[in-house]
Amino acid sequence: MDRIRIRGGNRLNGTIAISGAKNAALPLMAASLLTEDTLKLENVPHLADISTMAALLAHHGVKIGLEGDAPNGGHRGRVMSFNAQTITDTEAPYDLVRKMRASVLVLGPLVARIGEARVSMPGGCAIGNRPIDLHLKGLEALGAEIELAEGYIAARAPKGGLKGGHIVFPFASVGATENLLMAACLADGETVISNAAREPEITDLAHCLMAMGADISGVGTDTLTVRGQKTLHGATHPIIPDRIETATYVMAVGIAGGEVELTNTRVDFLKSALEKLTESGLKITPTVKGMKVSRGQHRLKGVDVMTEPFPGFPTDLQAQMMALMSTANGASMITETIFENRFMHVPELSRMGANITVHGASAMVRGVKSLTGAQVMATDLRASVSLVLAGLAAEGETVLHRVYHLDRGYERLEEKLAACGADIERLKG
Ligand code: EPZ
Repeated sequence: MDRIRIRGGNRLNGTIAISGAKNAALPLMAASLLTEDTLKLENVPHLADISTMAALLAHHGVKIGLEGDAPNGGHRGRVMSFNAQTITDTEAPYDLVRKMRASVLVLGPLVARIGEARVSMPGGCAIGNRPIDLHLKGLEALGAEIELAEGYIAARAPKGGLKGGHIVFPFASVGATENLLMAACLADGETVISNAAREPEITDLAHCLMAMGADISGVGTDTLTVRGQKTLHGATHPIIPDRIETATYVMAVGIAGGEVELTNTRVDFLKSALEKLTESGLKITPTVKGMKVSRGQHRLKGVDVMTEPFPGFPTDLQAQMMALMSTANGASMITETIFENRFMHVPELSRMGANITVHGASAMVRGVKSLTGAQVMATDLRASVSLVLAGLAAEGETVLHRVYHLDRGYERLEEKLAACGADIERLKG
């Protein structure tokens, strides 16, 4: 299994091109199931999760083409086409769903277009229990019948297909909003989704669905109104830049120091995170292509952070923020409100010399002057990258194990950091 070795202490200087957003790409790929025509996606990141979703779609009968594979440097990333003219299988098997929970995003599109689907129940995962009850209740509100048996969800639309309805989520869920938004596009009549999540990836999905002929209003708000269509058609859609990857590199500059321009990205997706990072002492200036980030010789100062649904501080940046705060001047209280078990990085950061105490959903981080390199591993994507950030600042050598977590969500991470002067390399095998 690959590992990543980092020798800490180098400042970062240069340019990093940001890839397309993984969490936008996955639902967009699932949306290809809604039409017989070809959906072409541009700026698709080259990641393990994208391959898993492609394998699942291919299993359903989707024909997938790769129409461009340039490295991401000021261009539009990979271009992939998806044609779901013939759905040959409506089952999402356990082996694919257990690899990636986002596989459940095929449920809404399949039931809406074909009238049925059988999807393996995703189990719990490293960051929490993560039930999918809101996805299922939402489908029931559109008339679907749901049965749970043998670890599978069997969903069936009524005769004549799904019917528009009013879905009121008790709290915002990214995946449930996406699943129901896609399903509602082919339901008969109007669907209102109240308390919808508002993440930029959902807005991106809505824009693509509208390019495919969907009639959606309220995009970007917590109330989405969808007037169902009989069919959708093909479209070409560029995927938005990855805001989590962007902020991860902002924090890499924060922890290592230096000056880096992040290109192919947008500041408006990251308002609350960038505000916090500026408050802690990072200089962030918007540029034509994205933003420039710099930190001089001074230490950052500790700031408090609480994760919230968009537009609040993202849970997907909590682990990275904790790494950053572990070398800040002063204390920082980091509170996780989205997932109940998303502090798995704490013991690993502590092994590198961080001073962190967890009380329930909050972690008190008392900044230390320096971290020390160690052998570390993590159980999920963002926790893994937080250890890379810590390694950039640590004295000596850090070796990160279980790199497959990183490969799910960061495209060519070690290349991008090495090009800015980090001493980082992948050890194969
Ligand atoms: C999406 O997961 C992201 N994944 C996650 O990215 C991200 O952490 C999360 O949103 C929150 O922003 C993708 O977009 C593919 P949720 P999702 O439904 O949709 C509870 C990463 O590192 N809930 O918004 O699964 C749930 O347990 C990751 O890239 C229910 O109780 O998240 C959680 O506590 C990992 N019942 C909360 O809601 C449901 O039916 C928010 O989850 C659904 C969710």
